[in-house]
Amino acid sequence: MKWICGLGLAATLAFQPVMAESTFGHHPLTPQARDAFVTDLLKKMTLDEKIGQLRLISVGPDNPKEVIREMIKKGQVGAIFNTVTRPDIRKMQDQVMQLSRLKIPLFFAYDVIHGQRTIFPITLGLASSWDLDAVNTVGRISAYEAADDGLNMTWAPMVDITRDPRWGRVSEGFGEDTYLTSQMGRAMVQAMQGKSPADRYNVMTSVKHFAAYGAVEGGRDYNTVDMSPKRLFQDYLPGYKTALDAGSGGVMVALNSLNGVPATADSWLLKDVLRNDWGFKGITISDHGAIKELIKHGVASDPQDAVRIAINAGVNMSMSDEFYSKYLPGLVKSGAVSEAEIDDAVRHVLNVKYDMGLFNDPYSHLGPKGSDPTNTNAESRLHRPQARDVARKSLVLLKNRLETLPLKKSGTIAVVGPLADSKRDMMGSWSAAGVAEQSVTVLQGIRNAVGDKAVVMFQKGANVTDNKGIQDFLNQYERAVSVDARSPQKMIDDALAAAKQSDVVVAVVGESQGMAHEASSRSDITIPPSQLKLLDALKATGKPLVIVLMNGRPLALVKEDMQADAMLETWFSGTEGGNAIADVLFGDYNPSGKLPMSFPRSVGQIPIYYNHLRTGRPYDFQHPNKYTSHYYDAANGPLYPFGYGLSYTRFTLSDVRLSAKTLARNGTLNASVTVTNSGKRDGATVVQLYLHDQTASISRPVEELKSFKRIFLKAGETQTVTFPIDINALKFWNARMQYVVEPGKFDVMIGLDSARTKNSVFTLL
Ligand code: NOJ
Repeated sequence: MKWICGLGLAATLAFQPVMAESTFGHHPLTPQARDAFVTDLLKKMTLDEKIGQLRLISVGPDNPKEVIREMIKKGQVGAIFNTVTRPDIRKMQDQVMQLSRLKIPLFFAYDVIHGQRTIFPITLGLASSWDLDAVNTVGRISAYEAADDGLNMTWAPMVDITRDPRWGRVSEGFGEDTYLTSQMGRAMVQAMQGKSPADRYNVMTSVKHFAAYGAVEGGRDYNTVDMSPKRLFQDYLPGYKTALDAGSGGVMVALNSLNGVPATADSWLLKDVLRNDWGFKGITISDHGAIKELIKHGVASDPQDAVRIAINAGVNMSMSDEFYSKYLPGLVKSGAVSEAEIDDAVRHVLNVKYDMGLFNDPYSHLGPKGSDPTNTNAESRLHRPQARDVARKSLVLLKNRLETLPLKKSGTIAVVGPLADSKRDMMGSWSAAGVAEQSVTVLQGIRNAVGDKAVVMFQKGANVTDNKGIQDFLNQYERAVSVDARSPQKMIDDALAAAKQSDVVVAVVGESQGMAHEASSRSDITIPPSQLKLLDALKATGKPLVIVLMNGRPLALVKEDMQADAMLETWFSGTEGGNAIADVLFGDYNPSGKLPMSFPRSVGQIPIYYNHLRTGRPYDFQHPNKYTSHYYDAANGPLYPFGYGLSYTRFTLSDVRLSAKTLARNGTLNASVTVTNSGKRDGATVVQLYLHDQTASISRPVEELKSFKRIFLKAGETQTVTFPIDINALKFWNARMQYVVEPGKFDVMIGLDSARTKNSVFTLL
């Protein structure tokens, strides 16, 4: 992206930072030069200075900026989190450069999860694009805007595999599939770090949450994870590994325990797997306050014990707790922690600072003082066209009866629902540096699209929820949901009055952003009752009903699916969300998104994921048998399967063609289909390749995504899509935890979702 690379070069060149003779200069960004430099620097450091480097301090009420500046002066801080403007960051770096003994620069980190100033769709929405170019755009712009604010590091991407929609944090990840998550995680790391995190407009990534945080029991946040080594290595670890192999400089350690051991205390995970097996050279950072939490986990008896365990397990940096500085000196003195262990952790911190280019220029992401933006939130800092484009790609058309959509830009349209005009909700949960006022709501997007060609009426119709307890929960830290002065019935009556005068009703319903976030687990994944009542009333008018969903997790939508004439999943689509949604509603953009998570029919089906193992008693709905694996009160399958999403055009697939019926272990086989756009509109779709190992030494999934390709076809156009297959796609962890490939028959399944595929079969020799 030339437009990004070119920016700021002049600023960097014009700036001459204050540098200490001994430390700063031109240090080539090579591992050899880095190791020599860091070894030398370590020799000059006192124990206290070393321990200071291991502290990542969060600015907040407990730690006001003034107190932090004092600590910085004394060399007691290694990095800062939650400071997000250039003037604030500069003041802290000045403190290091002017007053500390060794002048070791700080790095500055922040949760840049789905955008910095420009907010893009939540990560689950981005995953719905199945578009690695879109990931690249989000990564580049987020890094650009973050670096332009002076930041060096982001706590992203989250590559936790998520199969339980009760967990609010499914909104932050790429969904249930290992392959899709790995591809997207890698693309995000490459986009954000670019050639080097030292470059002016790149940031270092921190892959999280290591490991398996997405599998918390019952979907309850911070809960226990317990899983077989096979599942861990086959399904949950590849996402982290792929993102780390892409060069991520950081790893954030998970808050959960894994098979009984809190990740923060797990030397097997952080040393044996991460460092020894995977060769990770970057930095490990605890999650917020996680070292303290070892006491509550019941694996440390007191704070001192917690610190001993964490540092010895391989947690290099401690985020937001004072334990390392309080207890490490004593622990080193008593010999409970060796100085070599401290040196090792400090070396990792200094290494990443070196890789960030901070020893060449501690102000590299700040530029000269005079270049600071006068208005941090200036409209000119946003990247709206890119945000709109990515948001359009993230929308998933779930239903479209009798071509209800696209809508005409004429007549009267009733826009109804508590989320229809909510700027805050459009932004999604991790959008701290974004400004809600700058987002475009669905109502505004529809108004922008129709101009004066149609009449648009708006009614809120319902509160997000009428449950006082949930309202209070959502409003705990911000005014997130408002409660209307009207009674619920009056709101519905007003909405009905508008609906009756209209040609079509667009109901914007779902969750408010705070319902799908960290610490926002739900035991019920339906749309809240206040909104369901509204939908019932709207349906009863007989007007065509278009449901526009805003939510951060798969919801149970059986009734809504029956009520809706059309249903569009929009997640939380970000700054340009409303315009993007209107583009799809009116057919200015043909939807192409595909679900990255299965949508269950009810919470009782959870966990539900497409790539489950086979059983000895599979249920066959054509020949039902009591003693087979099924629910007697519900279907087994999801309401909408993984990979599903409709288009305004129709794509047809040929049978699968294989270049050969057998595959040699060192060979490649091509599987192809011909895709035809047999409808009337141009459009994009995602062709998905799944494989299934018919017989193996352990039970293997019924299907597994192994490749995909997003293609665009004009109406009437045809394209052949070819997927090369080699043994890497067939390998798995066997019962003895060996990564193997076993000869035999494999089904090749190609489709536009995971449920309807064209199949063929080949034999691995
Ligand atoms: C806790 C969350 O688990 C993590 O994802 C986040 O990056 C940190 N807090 C910092 O906000």
